[in-house]
Amino acid sequence: MTRSSEGLMTKQLTLPDELVLTLLNEESGYFRQVPGWSLNCAVVGSALAELSLIGRIDTDMQSLILLDQKPTGDPCLDPVLKAIAAEPAQRNAQYWVERLAPRAESIIDMTLDRLVDLNILQHHDGDFWSLAQTAWRSGFNVGSEVGTAVEFVKTRISKAIFSNEIPDPRDIIIICLIHTCDVLRYIFELDEESEARVEQVTKMDLIGRSIGDAVHENIARPLFRRTALTKAIPVVPLRKLVRNKHARKGNLPALFAELGEEFGPVFELRPPFQDRMIFLVGPETNHWVHRHGRTYLRARDYLEDFEKVYGGSGLLPALDGADHFRYRKSIQPGYSRTRLVGQLDEFYSYARNHFATWEVGDKRSAVDICRKLVNSELSPLSVSVDSQDIVDDLHKFKERALKTHIAGILPKFMLKTPSMRRRAKLVDEVVDRVLSVHTPAQREGCPRDLADDLLNMHAADRQFLPESNLRFVLSAPLIASMYVGDELSFIAYAMLSQPEFHEKIRAEADALFLNGDPDADTITGPAIEFTRRFIMECMRLYPIVPMSVRNVMNAVVVEGYELPEGARVFIAQTSTHYMSDLFQDPLTFDVDRYTAPRKEHLGTGYAPYGLGTHTCLGVRWTELQLTINLLMMTHYFDLEIAPKNYELKISPFPSQRPNKKLKFVVAGQRHELPV
Ligand code: HEM
Repeated sequence: MTRSSEGLMTKQLTLPDELVLTLLNEESGYFRQVPGWSLNCAVVGSALAELSLIGRIDTDMQSLILLDQKPTGDPCLDPVLKAIAAEPAQRNAQYWVERLAPRAESIIDMTLDRLVDLNILQHHDGDFWSLAQTAWRSGFNVGSEVGTAVEFVKTRISKAIFSNEIPDPRDIIIICLIHTCDVLRYIFELDEESEARVEQVTKMDLIGRSIGDAVHENIARPLFRRTALTKAIPVVPLRKLVRNKHARKGNLPALFAELGEEFGPVFELRPPFQDRMIFLVGPETNHWVHRHGRTYLRARDYLEDFEKVYGGSGLLPALDGADHFRYRKSIQPGYSRTRLVGQLDEFYSYARNHFATWEVGDKRSAVDICRKLVNSELSPLSVSVDSQDIVDDLHKFKERALKTHIAGILPKFMLKTPSMRRRAKLVDEVVDRVLSVHTPAQREGCPRDLADDLLNMHAADRQFLPESNLRFVLSAPLIASMYVGDELSFIAYAMLSQPEFHEKIRAEADALFLNGDPDADTITGPAIEFTRRFIMECMRLYPIVPMSVRNVMNAVVVEGYELPEGARVFIAQTSTHYMSDLFQDPLTFDVDRYTAPRKEHLGTGYAPYGLGTHTCLGVRWTELQLTINLLMMTHYFDLEIAPKNYELKISPFPSQRPNKKLKFVVAGQRHELPV
């Protein structure tokens, strides 16, 4: 890549690059709806065509011949070339498209990474891509075509379709491939005349024709039935669970890691009176979910019933595709760390007001103490109301709804008991409270909060965020305080039960808070280096959301196992946290695993906040909130664990938390709370 005197990027794109760019749908942040198998065939077709254009192979309608096996230096093309060179018999293009299609995902991954490196695409959290608005110029056509790379590719293709000029062979090949996947009509408006022209163009070039036909043949009728190549999914006998030491302690990630070691990355559980449950565990399936899950897995189905409990439909965690991307983009600022940092003084003051209610001698459930502390900050900061009086009931209602309407471990009528009906009404109470303080007059001069964002979204597009969804979205931050609170109780337990770590965290806390409140740069910088790694290690060992649930919407083969359409899969993304090939001595608490050169958390093996498109939006906010709370409680108080000989047991449903027996005692106050 070079930079010209005008500062424009100049780079020759390969056919896989061009195909990926043409298929990118800016609305959904990923590819146009091309079925997975067709996409894989088209991508492999583009790699074969590129090899053909640069003279490494020759292909016609009957055969594909290797001309030169010298590596090209392109990591997308070289494995394809190597596979062809390793095959003794001469095969045709159809054979190679089918043989190599299962490898297409790695070509797609590398192509996307390269386009990001080239500043042509921009990568967003949750694995979405959009166009970077960098001015760009193709190396092989220096002239007036300056614009984004996609504009460039699309302009060329539209010229080929809508004018009578003889197109460049590269354009013909791209048109052949996109036409074969049947998405040309979504990219360009085609009338009868232009459709006829497309048919004509696709016949103009021999490479384009042969590759296009090979891809078409594979999409229509693959040579081998794909399912014939797959393995049967092993079923884990239920006695394995009963006897497992991690299951007895409630540690789901450790349990799934062990099952994965014995049964492989895809296995099935068949609990009595429940549908089959397919589990995905391990680094390969994590990577697959992160990058490719969106094409095959859907979030909507498992949440459908749960949404109704709150009277909603189309809530963010239950959306897929373009609507989901749009929603995330619109609401992302409301959950950002920047928003929290902007209200740091208020945060400190809410926290301190709550700490002022702690009295020496207090002994309470660890979970309860931490949830209340977190909610005392999260509720006013995100929706500008106090909800301490009702938050326990809101949590109990949500937990029950998760057990009845998602996990299916309690019958549905258990959400209709008198106490649950009373709690359900409190969701309306939250909405009333939030709406009453979010009139224009009340909000005058206030810092913007999440409720402002949601209510604006509602006013701007009542179809997209209807009134019926406000009950859920406005009460969700109070529910999130349950998750953050439970994680904080694990973290505080880990600190109090390991004095050598407690001492180090106390040292950082005292250095930060002894002379007043730290500013934003200090509280996010090197001054919290140890605490940050300590929290990361707690989230590895005790992730509160150990897995995600999805339904298979397109049948797919993962690691050699077929996930059938309609099946429910449980992505145990945190099972990798307990795998020794990723995390050295995984059962040991080791904060040094996050520093160079080890950096064991890099990649998709560390996933306490989920994977793929639905990755937690509150990550940065949560990290900061956990850090500040841990440091402040350590600076101001001496806490102890009760009973003193407590051994950690986890309550795993509906999300992981320390069991009720864990209590924290306020044994002393180390520093006065400033007024
Ligand atoms: C320790 C605390 C937290 C943990 C471990 C956590 C973890 C997760 C996980 C694993 C998911 C993905 C679920 C899935 O794939 O189905 C998720 C989604 C989400 N989280 Fe968190 N979360 C935490 C706190 C928060 C907080 C405090 C907020 C907001 C203030 C938040 C906002 C969200 C949102 C909006 C989503 C849905 C994203 C989407 O569907 O696109 N989370 N979280």
